[in-house]
Amino acid sequence: MRYRMKSLGVLLFLGFCLVTSSHVLFHEWTKLILTHHWPQTFCTMEHCHTRFNYWTLHGLWPDRGVACNSSWHFNESLIQDILPDMEKSWPDLFNPTSTSFWKYEWHKHGTCAATAEALNSQHKYFSKALELYHKFNLDGVLKQNHIVPSEQHYTLDAVEGAILNSYGVKPKIQCLHPGKGGEFQTLGQIEICVDREFELVSCEKALDDIWSRVNDILSYALNGVTGFSVCDEDLPIYYPPLTGKF
Ligand SMILES: *[C@@H]1O[C@H](CO)[C@@H](O)[C@H](O)[C@H]1NC(C)=O
Ligand SMILES: *[C@@H]1O[C@H](CO)[C@@H](O)[C@H](O)[C@H]1NC(C)=O
Repeated sequence: MRYRMKSLGVLLFLGFCLVTSSHVLFHEWTKLILTHHWPQTFCTMEHCHTRFNYWTLHGLWPDRGVACNSSWHFNESLIQDILPDMEKSWPDLFNPTSTSFWKYEWHKHGTCAATAEALNSQHKYFSKALELYHKFNLDGVLKQNHIVPSEQHYTLDAVEGAILNSYGVKPKIQCLHPGKGGEFQTLGQIEICVDREFELVSCEKALDDIWSRVNDILSYALNGVTGFSVCDEDLPIYYPPLTGKF
């Protein structure tokens, strides 16, 4: 019995070392994910009302690392000059006058992105996200390709094709899935990826793809029907117009 406990201890210790060392070995991120959400879908899911009728920023996320420096506090006065653009492009959809969304994103993702010199301050991090958001102009790209909010449905191929044509790389497109027996999924989130030089790269490589699906399934299981996951290529996509109620 004693012996068994000891083996268990060794095993746990080894497991701990593995997790710790792999964290150290692989902690450096290689890709940034510029995540956009469609306010109407977000608000359908979270029961808010929105006046934003264009894709807004959700975040700029390194592919590895979460909450990397808890002592690096968000400070609004450091991004004073870009606040008007932040409010327009990266609004807190729950409360457009609040800064708590930016604080959350900074702590969770910005402090990890900051290992790159180009992103090692709050001003650099938020400005870069805005710069990429305007440069890629997802909202414009979808419109130019006639993918607009509508009561008619789209195929995943059509939405993905529009983005692929414009950027030359594959995005990750996420939907709000229908409940049991539902006939369509609702377009919710679009991720566009860049490398450490901020050049466009495909969001889904083979291995990441598997992991993102595992993550999606897990988050789907945890959140029930309310979470986003990668859109299903066999279901029509609903791109909901603004309801106008708020
Ligand atoms: C965490 O952030 C603080 C405040 O900016 C900084 O002084 C410290 O060097 C950072 N720690 C690491 C490990 O980067
Ligand atoms: C925020 O940054 C400003 C400008 O650097 C500084 O004066 C102020 O003390 C900071 N506030 C906090 C709470 O750290």
